[in-house]
Amino acid sequence: MSNAIGRSRPASVAPLAEVLPPGVHFAESEVPAFPQVAPLAAEAALLVGALPARREEFLAGRACAHRALAALGIPDAARRPVLRGPAREPLWPAGVTGSITHRGGYCAAAVAWRHTHAALGIDAELARALPPGVEPKVCTPAERRWLSAQPPGQIPWNTLLFSAKESFHKAWFALTGQWLGPLDAEVVPQAHPAPAAQADSDTKSVPYTADGTFRIRPAPASVSPFDPPAPRAASPCAPSSSPPA
Ligand SMILES: CC(C)(COP(=O)(O)OP(=O)(O)OC[C@H]1O[C@@H](n2cnc3c(N)ncnc32)[C@H](O)[C@@H]1OP(=O)(O)O)[C@@H](O)C(=O)NCCC(=O)NCCS
Repeated sequence: MSNAIGRSRPASVAPLAEVLPPGVHFAESEVPAFPQVAPLAAEAALLVGALPARREEFLAGRACAHRALAALGIPDAARRPVLRGPAREPLWPAGVTGSITHRGGYCAAAVAWRHTHAALGIDAELARALPPGVEPKVCTPAERRWLSAQPPGQIPWNTLLFSAKESFHKAWFALTGQWLGPLDAEVVPQAHPAPAAQADSDTKSVPYTADGTFRIRPAPASVSPFDPPAPRAASPCAPSSSPPA
């Protein structure tokens, strides 16, 4: 799990370069993307009825996805549409996993081969605290205890933690096709290694963990890649057999 806080002009900041593990290729861009690239017809078709702001972030994300796929070695990546599934998840070429995020004028895509990374999740957030009243709805009691123990200052800890959960949600969905609510997984911060998140499979019989790192930057976007949830028979931070309260 990783988070970084950056500026809204990613030309001067590359948060993902600091936090992604080896073997993951990525691209970042401003929203709207510059230079603008003509959208692929199949991707533009997904935008019927979309508002201009949504159109801009979607196309910037797809442009990043094409560049990341090219960096991974996918032939003719710029002309291969990245369509979306019924849960809005991006559909990657066979053998590839990946993730897209956009927030506050920043967007990014990260991809990897499935044989090296089971799933990826990245998430960018503005570096400001969650709105009042949201934290209890998205953080478990244990997470809230950890939050309350963090030093006050410029780091919006609850947003950072939520961003990690959003990243995990994307990786988890890519891996399992299951939808996770914010209280269905728990972030377990650790000094070394970096914070981990965990969730149970549907059957509650197989614990999963995902590792990652985070990075805080001066302002105002946060990026948190997750890499990669993998089934483990036993884990030093194995989840309980029931969802967090
Ligand atoms: C889907 C969700 C994770 C998107 O996060 P977000 O911060 O709102 O937006 P981001 O810009 O970071 O990410 C959006 C991108 O995520 C991707 N995405 C959307 N749904 C997805 C899914 N089910 N699985 C994987 N990726 C998904 C898409 O690529 C999307 O961009 P696009 O529509 O332009 O292609 C979020 O809206 C959500 O519903 N979360 C579920 C509840 C929750 O918070 N769970 C906590 C984890 S336990």
